[in-house]
Amino acid sequence: MHLHKYEKWWLVFGTGTLIAFLVILGIGAFHSGSHPNDTKWTIDYERVDDIAPFNNPGVHKVEGKDWDYEVVLVASAFNYNPMEIELPLDAKVKFIATTKDVIHGFQVAGTNINMMLEPGYVSEYTTVVNKTGEYLVVCNEYCGTGHAFMYSTLKVVD
Ligand code: CUA
Repeated sequence: MHLHKYEKWWLVFGTGTLIAFLVILGIGAFHSGSHPNDTKWTIDYERVDDIAPFNNPGVHKVEGKDWDYEVVLVASAFNYNPMEIELPLDAKVKFIATTKDVIHGFQVAGTNINMMLEPGYVSEYTTVVNKTGEYLVVCNEYCGTGHAFMYSTLKVVD
C-alpha cells in the first residue's frame, strides 16, 4: 500500500494524539482516584435561565466539596455565559455546563477540557488547572452560521 506523505503525517499525528490522550486520561484518573465523570442530568433547555445553578452563571468558590470552584456555564448560539473565566492556579474545578438551544462544544485549547453540550442535558467535568496562561475556549460542534465566531477565554492566574 502506498501512502502519500500527507497521509503518513496524519497517521503519525493521529497515533501520537491518541497516545497523548490515553496518557492524560491515565494520569487524570490516577490523580483524582476516580473514573471519568460522564453522568448527565436532564434539564428543560427552554427554562435554563430559571433553573439553578444556571440562573447564576460564572465562577463560584465552594466549600465542603471535593472541588474548590464551580464554573457554571451556559452556551447559546453563538456565545458563552460567562464570556471570560478566571481561575487561580492549581484550583480543583468542576465545570457544569448546558446549552439553551442547539448542540455546542466547550473545548479549552491546550488542555484536556473538552465537553459536548447537548440541549436538555447537563455536562460536568472536574479537573485541576495546573498551568498558568490565557486559553482560548472554542465551540467544536457545528452550531450554525455563527459557529466560527463562538469562543471565550479561560485565564489561569498565579
Ligand atoms: Cu456553538 Cu459551534
